[in-house]
Amino acid sequence: MAQPILITGGAGYIGSHTARHLTANGAKCVIADNLVYGHREAVPIGAVFELVDLADRAALKALFGKYNFAAVVHFAAFAYVGESVTDPQKYYANNLIGTLNLLEAMLGAGVKKIVFSSTCATYGEPQYTPIDEAHPQHPINPYGVTKLAIERVFADYEKAYGLRHISLRYFNAAGAAADSAIGESHTPETHLIPLVLKAIKGETPPIKIFGTDYDTPDGTCVRDYIHVEDLAVAHQLALEKLGSFCGCLNLATGVGTSVREVIAAAEAVTGKRCPVEIAPRRAGDPAKLYAAADKAREILGWQPRYTEIKETIRTAWNWEQNRKF
Ligand SMILES: NC(=O)c1ccc[n+]([C@@H]2O[C@H](COP(=O)([O-])OP(=O)(O)OC[C@H]3O[C@@H](n4cnc5c(N)ncnc54)[C@H](O)[C@@H]3O)[C@@H](O)[C@H]2O)c1
Repeated sequence: MAQPILITGGAGYIGSHTARHLTANGAKCVIADNLVYGHREAVPIGAVFELVDLADRAALKALFGKYNFAAVVHFAAFAYVGESVTDPQKYYANNLIGTLNLLEAMLGAGVKKIVFSSTCATYGEPQYTPIDEAHPQHPINPYGVTKLAIERVFADYEKAYGLRHISLRYFNAAGAAADSAIGESHTPETHLIPLVLKAIKGETPPIKIFGTDYDTPDGTCVRDYIHVEDLAVAHQLALEKLGSFCGCLNLATGVGTSVREVIAAAEAVTGKRCPVEIAPRRAGDPAKLYAAADKAREILGWQPRYTEIKETIRTAWNWEQNRKF
C-alpha cells in the first residue's frame, strides 16, 4: 500500500483542487484542516479528512503517529493581505508558528519532504517584470513576511536536518475545476475574478477599480492569473522532484492581464455587463505583477494549460453559477 500524502489546508481553494488531482492520479491523501476557512464538501471522494489545527502540537504528533506519511503539501495559512497589516499577530502565529509546529511533527516522525504554498507577495514592490526567482525579496506586508520567513526556515532545516523542500510562489490563483465540482469559495472574497462575477450576477455592488492612472497600457493594475488546476499539476510534479531539487519556483502564466481586461473578458464570457465604479488607488498595490515561470518549466517540466484569461474565467463562471458551497 502506497504511503499517504498529508495535505494541510486541503479543504481550502487551492488545496482541494490539488487533493482532487493527486487522488485522481492514484495518491492516497489525508487532508488536515481546521475548517476556519475550508469546506468539508471540497474534500475529494477517496481522501481522508482529519479536523486538525496546526496550533495543536499534540494533535499533529498524533496525526503523524497514525499515518506513515511520504510527504507533506502545506497550504494551511491565513492569506488576507490587508488583515495581516491590521492584525499581524494572527498571521505570525498561524502561518509561521503553525508551520514550525508542522515541521516539528514531521521531523519527529522522520518525514522530510514538503511542498509549500509561497507567494509573489514575498517579492514586494517589483523592481522589474517579468519577476524571476532571483528578484530581490522585500515583502511589504506581514503576510508576505511570514511566507518569506518560512522559505528561510526550510533552507536552514535542509542544512541541519536534511529537509527536502520546494516552495511554490504562486501569482494570482484563479478559475475552478473544469467539471465545476469544486471552485473558489472564500468568505470574505477579495479576489478580482469572483468579485467581478458576483457583481455581474447582481449579488454584490459594482466592482471597484482601484486606480486608473497606473503606468500600464490601460491605466489599471496588471496581474498574472494562474489557473488552479495548473497549480494542482505543479504540486504533483514538485512532489516527484523533491528527491533531486530543493528551492523556490514561480508558478505563473507569464502573461499580465489588467483589471479592465479581466472585466472585459468576464463580460464576453457571461454575455452580461459588469457594473463598475472608479475608486482611488489602494496603498501597496504595485502597478504590474507578472512572472517568468521558466524555472518551473525547466525543473518540473510544468507548463500551464490555461493561458487565455477567458478560458480561466469560463471555468470560474461555470462554478459561480452552480456552486455547491
Ligand atoms: N489564492 C491565491 O491566489 C494565493 C496566492 C499565493 C499564495 N497562496 C497561498 O496558498 C495557500 C492556499 O490558499 P487558498 O486561496 O486556497 O486559501 P484558503 O483559505 O481557501 O485555504 C487555506 C486552508 O487552510 C486552512 N487553515 C488555515 N489555518 C489553519 C490551521 N491553523 N490549521 C489547519 N488548517 C488551517 C483553512 O481552513 C483553509 O481551508 C495559502 O497558504 C495561501 O497563502 C494563495
